[in-house]
Amino acid sequence: MQRRTGGLLLVLICLAACTSSPGVTATEARSTGTTAQSSGDTTPDTTQPGNTSPATTSPQSPDTTEPVDSTSPDQSDGFGVGDVLFPSLGNPGIDVEHYTLRLTYDRPTNELTGTVHLDIVMTEARNEFSLDSDGPAVSAVTIDGQSAGFSEQRPELVITPPQQLTKGQRIAVDVSFERSPQAFTSASWGPVGWFPTPGGSFVLNEPEGASTWFPCDDHPSDQASFRFELTVPNGVTAVANGALLDHTSTTSGDTWTWQEDRPMSTYTIQVLTGDYELIDGVGPNGLPMLSAVLREDRDTMQPYVDSSAAMIGFFDDYFGPYPLDSYGVAIADSLSGVAMETFGRPMYSRDDFSSGRLDTPQETLLSHELAHQWFGNAVSPASWSDVWLNESFATYGQWMWLDHIGDVPLDESANFALATRGSGSTAYPTVEDMFGFNSYEGGAVVLQALRKTIGDEPFFTLLRRWVSENNGTARDTADFIALANEVAGRDLADFFDTWLFASTLPARFPA
Ligand code: ARG
Ligand code: ZN
Repeated sequence: MQRRTGGLLLVLICLAACTSSPGVTATEARSTGTTAQSSGDTTPDTTQPGNTSPATTSPQSPDTTEPVDSTSPDQSDGFGVGDVLFPSLGNPGIDVEHYTLRLTYDRPTNELTGTVHLDIVMTEARNEFSLDSDGPAVSAVTIDGQSAGFSEQRPELVITPPQQLTKGQRIAVDVSFERSPQAFTSASWGPVGWFPTPGGSFVLNEPEGASTWFPCDDHPSDQASFRFELTVPNGVTAVANGALLDHTSTTSGDTWTWQEDRPMSTYTIQVLTGDYELIDGVGPNGLPMLSAVLREDRDTMQPYVDSSAAMIGFFDDYFGPYPLDSYGVAIADSLSGVAMETFGRPMYSRDDFSSGRLDTPQETLLSHELAHQWFGNAVSPASWSDVWLNESFATYGQWMWLDHIGDVPLDESANFALATRGSGSTAYPTVEDMFGFNSYEGGAVVLQALRKTIGDEPFFTLLRRWVSENNGTARDTADFIALANEVAGRDLADFFDTWLFASTLPARFPA
């Protein structure tokens, strides 16, 4: 409830306070980026402000009592792409176009072994390059089938090709690794990474969790298509983003193959294993729908599975046609109070949906994560400082939906948020408050003010053009302002100075 908690999270805290949490896992510290391999397991965190939130208090490990540690700030290690909030994330000189992740996960031993195949285009001539890797133990790297040198310098895996790579060259990189996954304490808010659960696992990657369980270019400026070949014990279901292409069963396990052809960011990866039932259907305009719920929850969760179609239809009218190839909900054995807009199939915690009813908290979560498919997923933030392009827009969508169903009038949500907003600029988040009030409700206030300033029709034209013209790319705040100026037909610099960049906002919305 303190400064760190955004509007969505406020609802989440109420939810979490009323429900119990499944066992998940303890967390370990993220590498500082200055040392080589270490176990990372350290001492309990009692100081982190986020520790009062459900995401950091309720998780308990079924298999370990390792304490939780606070994290060190992400420091530049010379291999990042210049993200102000996460200097070590991203990798200069490369553009990953496609990943094929072949993983075998054995829940009883908590062993994750695998290979990741990356199709990369070199954006610079290099005689070495890096991937983000803060936890996996790497055993081999090849480039175009030839063995390459590598050095693990957490949070980087530094790769030395057999010969110099030229700008524009296409290479295929294969990395073999293993990991006993354990979640990390994010520098931002709560634990991230790969979480063992009683019956399987889930991942929560935003912002820096993906590279704690596989080597990748873990920055939203580099989106890629993904194929997942996931092998799990017989009888277990593995779920990932995109379409289910194949499911085979042998005596050594079941392999589930999923593919997402649209470019997505690593932080939006979904991997779930457990006793999931897949429910397919058809949404508006023939949209393929595929949801995943735990088999024992099937009846309780059906109303949520069924709720998506009407919501998509509503947002289509305002934001433009649903921008991805498929949709569904995944209601997982995950952290109570935390939802995530995983690409094409958001993940929710079963604890937050145990009533089987669509009350305000569930409508809020469902509409927020759906709105992210336009804002954050179709159009990715170019850097983590642009996180308001995700969260403020999804919060605005959530307000629109609550208004539409007659729950909370949009003006009431907006007026309340403006009145509640403390100081701090939405455009300049810190790592600690990037998932705080000023990115969520405090930033949705900026959109309400923009709508009042330029008018309803230009406002929604702007949102539609933002998605249709930028789908599949990463964009920043300056790009949004440029498009706003174009749509409004005037220079809105004063507006954005007053509402987006300023740390103290006007007391009232423009008339
Ligand atoms: N993007 C998510 C949401 O708004 C929040 C994820 C926060 N990240 C975290 N590690 N807790 O819906
Ligand atoms: Zn969100």
